Amino acid sequence: MTALSNDAARAKPLPGSRPPTREAPGQPTPPASASLTMWLLVVLVVVLFSGGLFGYDQGVISGALSGIKSTFALSPLIVEVVTSWVTLGALLGALAGGELADRIGRKRTVLIAGALFTLGAAVQAFAPETLVLVAGRLIIGAGVGVAAVAAPLYAAELSPASWRGRFVSAYQLAITIGIFLAYLVDGWLSADANWRLMLGAAAIPGVLLFVVALVAPESPRWLMKMHRRDDAAVEMKKIAPAGDDIDTDLNQIADALSKEPAGGAWSEVFRSEWRRPLMVGLGLAIFQQVTGINAIIYYADQIFGAAGFDTEASRTTVTTWAIGGVNVLSTLIAIAFIDHLGRRKLLLAGLIGMAVSLIVVGGAFQFIATPDATAASVAKSSAGPSTAGLVTLVGLVAFIISFAFSLGPVVWTVINEIFPGRIRGRAVAVCTAVNWASAFLVSQFFLSLVGAIGSSVTFWLFAAFSVIGWVWVYIYVPETKGLTLEQIQGIWKGLSK
Ligand code: BGC
Repeated sequence: MTALSNDAARAKPLPGSRPPTREAPGQPTPPASASLTMWLLVVLVVVLFSGGLFGYDQGVISGALSGIKSTFALSPLIVEVVTSWVTLGALLGALAGGELADRIGRKRTVLIAGALFTLGAAVQAFAPETLVLVAGRLIIGAGVGVAAVAAPLYAAELSPASWRGRFVSAYQLAITIGIFLAYLVDGWLSADANWRLMLGAAAIPGVLLFVVALVAPESPRWLMKMHRRDDAAVEMKKIAPAGDDIDTDLNQIADALSKEPAGGAWSEVFRSEWRRPLMVGLGLAIFQQVTGINAIIYYADQIFGAAGFDTEASRTTVTTWAIGGVNVLSTLIAIAFIDHLGRRKLLLAGLIGMAVSLIVVGGAFQFIATPDATAASVAKSSAGPSTAGLVTLVGLVAFIISFAFSLGPVVWTVINEIFPGRIRGRAVAVCTAVNWASAFLVSQFFLSLVGAIGSSVTFWLFAAFSVIGWVWVYIYVPETKGLTLEQIQGIWKGLSK
């Protein structure tokens, strides 16, 4: 979208542009800023609805479970299936999403996600029996997985380079808003255990996503990959900054595509040429999860219970606002700074905040009961949170803030900008699937880990992963702020020389 060649060595600086921080060898100078046009707003709406549905469908089940259990008298095994098959569906959906995004296009893949969200919500809301409910969970999961690949990819490919960080972070903002809304809706509807409405409500934004995606532009980068230059020019005109030379833009994309090896098969994702970006993408996907975010998102209620928040109302309030609300607000910090400060600074600062706050929470848990003991401690206690409990609250809020301005949005931004166009969809899918698999493992084993090694050591383990993550980011993750997707490919070429 800018007048720079993808070839790092030949790149010319634009007037008024600033050099990126910690440049990789031969890294070019970032392009000028663009303005937000009507079409870019449409792209943004697609991204916001996709992220919002991802967050809502991920967060809503915790409050719906007790109502579902009383309607269907579920066995513990089926309760687990109802909870976790969304993750299974998301894993499969992410892999299918990558294939679809590369084959039928980014836009049509988002349309499929919208259809899956709507269908899954309706199937769950009207489920006459457990099997149908489980099918609904799987369909919703597939929607989450497809959207998790297609929406940030769509955002990364359709936003101008100088806005890309903010666009992909808007996707993360929408995830956090979705989780927050799910906590709120759970709170409102929990009195009469209206789980059908909790799960079915997602059908409305699902339909809206479908409708907006219908009119939204297709990615010119994908159209160029499919040798549809005329169509690419039409779409590029909609989203390019005013006065941009569309032909030059398309030539750069064609140039970048021509330098990539032919093919696009799954095996190509693992070629030695792309080992470096793949390592960066997978590393970020894994560190985002093994530092504990979803253990805290899913089990906040139990953690706060153990920390002495002894009424259900106090736990719901503190979880909704201290975790859900703070998560939304702090993501705004990333949106404000990601394209100015860059990805690396946010990641490095956030990981320090996460490590320190996890060490503090681990320390506080030396003085309080484990989450396992929640029920017992809640039943016995009526004194409210102790000092250690309040320290836990402050520590967790600090953790959420640190995650929300760093690993939350930056990981998705970087994963969606580092791969060459030909394999981007599939490579993003592999990273997203690994992210889901890591999320599944952490949330599945958190309570067992607490039982085996205790709460303090569990939080310290997450802190240790944050420290390792910091060192790893410092060494391996390059700054990609302000570069076009084609220029970023030049970074890897520079590094392999
Ligand atoms: C992560 C999710 C997490 C969410 C919390 C996302 O970036 O991928 O696993 O639940 O952030 O805000």
